[in-house]
Amino acid sequence: MLGTLSFAAKVVRWQKQHGRHDLPWQKTRDAYRIWLSEIMLQQTQVAAVIPYYQRFLQRFPDIGSLAAATQDEVLTLWAGLGYYSRARNLHRAAQLAVAGHGGRMPVDFDALLTLPGIGRSTAAAICVFAYGARHAILDGNVKRLFARRFGIAGFPGDAKVAGVLWRETERQLPARNIEAYTQGLMDLGAGVCTRGKPRCDVCPVAQDCVALKRKAIAKFPAPRPRKALPQRHTDMLVLLHARQVLLEKRAATGIWGGMWSLPEVPAGTDMIALCAQRYGAAVAQHEVMPTVAHGFTHFKLDIVPQRLKVSHVAAHAAAPGVMWLPLEEALGAAIPAPVKRIIAAIAAEK
Ligand code: ADE
Repeated sequence: MLGTLSFAAKVVRWQKQHGRHDLPWQKTRDAYRIWLSEIMLQQTQVAAVIPYYQRFLQRFPDIGSLAAATQDEVLTLWAGLGYYSRARNLHRAAQLAVAGHGGRMPVDFDALLTLPGIGRSTAAAICVFAYGARHAILDGNVKRLFARRFGIAGFPGDAKVAGVLWRETERQLPARNIEAYTQGLMDLGAGVCTRGKPRCDVCPVAQDCVALKRKAIAKFPAPRPRKALPQRHTDMLVLLHARQVLLEKRAATGIWGGMWSLPEVPAGTDMIALCAQRYGAAVAQHEVMPTVAHGFTHFKLDIVPQRLKVSHVAAHAAAPGVMWLPLEEALGAAIPAPVKRIIAAIAAEK
């Protein structure tokens, strides 16, 4: 009888009938491929991931080939997918795995957890899909589903609330069918128990859903408590010469570590002198472009682009970590999203 089925049994039955079965990473037990899919799928939708996943695997079919690549090549294949720390961590983790695990992906949960970029939920998903091991996942979608179905109040980013959610996901784990169950949670989270307009009419656990019973779906999960984020400002140099733009590689650590970007300079810098000195560039024209705002989790950043038309670049000016690229090519490089917006605005002119 329907009412006697456990939560997990309902999810499993629903997944088998209505869930997704043809995603590229569902056709393998290769932990490397599953790991890559789980990293790409963090905060990114399936449809956006699929072409990146396939291109990435063509170039890096195994962990050894990824470990042997340069960071630049990895970041370039990632360009457009966003959240580039994922790509840096992936690359670093591949190198650590090759050095420390005999060139293979670690097979146990605790060893996976030691790798950069692999948190508790990602380690669990890899163990489930690669090895059929019984572990609980808790990504953003599953947090929402559990908060609603079990009526768990509070902001899930809060450690206490996360603790309650983790305990509940552990408690609900089925003895069998862990793959279908886990995939079912993901499928429900992505397609049924969505943030706006959830499809409660087709949800297999709607009958027992606490939030639905209380007519309070929109109240779960509770949003992040609002607090004013600090506001920071920076100037960026947009050096332009014959429809080429100068990009500079950022330091490996800090925001946008290792990515190509417009050079950042402190307010009040003598830009004309700096361009001559550092880039061998003679500036003919200077214009301040409209401010570009960008939000990080912990602060807000206002970028003031300083557009500098360069009449001449000294022949000796090619410095390491600096390159001139045609505007269109720069847009395809691994550059931060707000930098892309600045360059796109210029590329769209004329
Ligand atoms: N989101 C995170 N992991 C996923 C997976 N394996 N399939 C579909 N969506 C996901």
